[in-house]
Order: sequence, then C-alpha cells, then structure tokens
Amino acid sequence: MIIAVDGPTASGKGTLAKALAAHFGLPFLDTGLLYRAVGRQVQINNGNPDNPADALAGCDFPDSILDDAALRTEAVGGLASRVSLHPVVRAALNKRQVDFANQPGGALLDGRDIGTVIAPHADVKLFVTAPAEVRAQRRYDEMQRHGINVRFADILADIHARDARDMGRADAPLKPAQDALLLDTGDLTIGGAVQAAIALVESRL
Ligand code: C5P
Repeated sequence: MIIAVDGPTASGKGTLAKALAAHFGLPFLDTGLLYRAVGRQVQINNGNPDNPADALAGCDFPDSILDDAALRTEAVGGLASRVSLHPVVRAALNKRQVDFANQPGGALLDGRDIGTVIAPHADVKLFVTAPAEVRAQRRYDEMQRHGINVRFADILADIHARDARDMGRADAPLKPAQDALLLDTGDLTIGGAVQAAIALVESRL
C-alpha cells in the first residue's frame, strides 16, 4: 500500500503522516526534509537559493544531514521553499522519493507533490489543510513553547508567502490530486485529526 499525504505548511500533515505510518506499519519519508537539506547546504555554502546552480550544488548532501536539528529552523524552511522552485532541484530529488514510494511492502510519504508527481498511483491520497490563521497560531504557540520570541503577524505573513510560492510555482505546484481526500484539521484536535485520517484511509482500502 502506498499512502500520499500532501498539504501546505503547518497544516498538521507531518504529525498525521507519522501517526498513519505507525498505524498501518509503513516506512515513512518526510520529503520536506530533503528540500530542507538542500536549503541548509546552500546556507552553509553561503549560496544564493534563488540561483539554480547554487541550489543544485546543495543537492549533494549526505544522508546523515537529515537528522540535523538545524533543518527544523524557520530560516531553513524558508530557504527550502525557495530552492524547491527550481526544476533542476526537484529532478535531483525525484529518484530518491520515487524509489522510496515503490519499495516492496509499500510506504507513506508526506510533502507537496506526492499524490500528483511522486506517486500518482498511490492507493490513498490525503490532502491536509487548515485556514492560514489556524496554521499561524499553531506555529506561534509551538515557538512560544520553545521560548522563541516572534510576532504573530510575522508568522502569518511567512505562512502566506510560503503558500504563494508552493502553490504558484510552475513545476509541481502544491494542489490536491484529482482523487485526493480532503481533510481540514482547522477544528480538530491532534487526536481527532488522526482518527479522521485513519477513517479516510480505511474508506479507500
Ligand atoms: O514540509 P516542509 O515545511 O518541511 O517543507 C519545506 C519546503 O520544501 C516547502 O515549503 C516546499 O516548498 C518544499 N517541498 C516541496 N515538495 C515536497 C516537500 C517540500 O516543494 N514534496
């Protein structure tokens, strides 16, 4: 079984994807980490994320970098969103994701283009959303918990910018696959969203 989970930033798709992978016993790949790894390499190299050659040079990263806490920062998330616009970067990261999706026994991947580009043949495609204000509030609360001082308005503006880049790009824009099941987590607790996601997957088995 292949499950594709896509959705915008801070929609809760990462948490849902992990819970679904554990529930259905599937190997899990957070594909955002690959783009974050490229963004991080560009940061380390002092490169320009908007320059395709610099971004492509960042695609040469060791697997070990995927566990690095530095990939989780807002700054690296922003760089990931910029390097992911380049078709050469998407192409460089494609095979790794396609191979992971098609391993014997199945897999669950989360990202932006899993149901549309990486695994259009997936058995189940979930598109996870929530209103931008709700996503900004979640990110704001999480940062407060970690003692990071930020303005809500800045977080919201960043979410809008990230959405515009992810949805507006020419190559593999973020959008639900035609046969995707939509899940809006705006009014749901984490537990409620996990239960709803499991029910949606089971409805397709
Ligand atoms: O999901 P995450 O926030 O870690 O992703 C970081 C960025 O990587 C996203 O904003 C998006 O631009 C890009 N990305 C992508 N395709 C994917 C996964 C992530 O373009 N499959």
